[in-house]
Amino acid sequence: MLIRRSDDLKSSDITPESVCLDRRQFVGTAGALALGSVLTPATLQALSRTGGQPGTSEKLTREADATSYNNFYEFGTDKDEPKDQAKNFITKPWTISVDGMVKQPKTFAFDDLIKGLALQDRVYRHRCVEAWSMVIPWQGVQVRDVINRCDPLPSAKFVEFTTLLDPTRMPGQRRSVLPWPYTEALRLDEAMHPLALLVTGMYGKPLPNQNGAPLKLVVPWKYGFKGGKSIVRLRFTDTMPHTTWNDAAPSEYGFFANVNPTVDHPRWTQAKERRIGQFLKIPTLMFNGYGQQVASLYSGMDLRKSY
Ligand code: MTE
Repeated sequence: MLIRRSDDLKSSDITPESVCLDRRQFVGTAGALALGSVLTPATLQALSRTGGQPGTSEKLTREADATSYNNFYEFGTDKDEPKDQAKNFITKPWTISVDGMVKQPKTFAFDDLIKGLALQDRVYRHRCVEAWSMVIPWQGVQVRDVINRCDPLPSAKFVEFTTLLDPTRMPGQRRSVLPWPYTEALRLDEAMHPLALLVTGMYGKPLPNQNGAPLKLVVPWKYGFKGGKSIVRLRFTDTMPHTTWNDAAPSEYGFFANVNPTVDHPRWTQAKERRIGQFLKIPTLMFNGYGQQVASLYSGMDLRKSY
């Protein structure tokens, strides 16, 4: 993110998308599809638009764009590198350890962590701090359901998410472009919000490696860098954790990272964004359009200071 600017898109990245989708329809129809099944363009097109929740009646980003224009520095710093460099990344078996302020530290097999939890189909805006955005249909579980399974102590106030550290499998970790492993964190009340997901799939298919298989955090009212990929650890704590981009460039990337068109990045404006697949820039919405649901989490806070 330090390296590339929002204007770096090539014209080949800009492809029209014909598929429109509404969340209520999507939940009703696609929600019945099991994770791992395929949402064909025909199925998607059959789901008509009825308006409603923010971000849900907009054109979906082409799946080919969402899976080939990625930030995942463990697999290369150019947007087109992760899909190739992560091609042979093996994510089975996968375990997630839970420690810190919990009743009992545990290690879960991936399947056990999410087994029995309600699978969510959600179409969310995805706004990168670099001022590009997408609209992505995710499948996953609510972070709060996973947290409840982890039994945090009442004194825990934050949860930290850590990406796998394994330079033999993640070639980008052999270079010190970032301090490894990649970590992100949320205040516990943010993590417990029903919009926050741990995703296991997108476009009705298992999550591709380049998008963070097998488990990626998605917090739609925050900039995309909060969404740590290939998560192996949840740690509960009562002090604000260090996070990768905040440590790397504290004046540019805050802990909260709420999408905010009135607080510019020191090197570019956040007032507008380039929606991948569209030519003209569009205005960025406060909290990425999810303010009605999440603004109360930040009441009384100065969002210029806590950026
Ligand atoms: N997670 C890890 N482990 N490594 C990364 O480099 N990049 C972040 C975030 N999660 C990143 C990461 C950034 S900057 C963004 S914008 C999103 O992932 C991109 O997610 P996407 O490729 O699914 O669009």
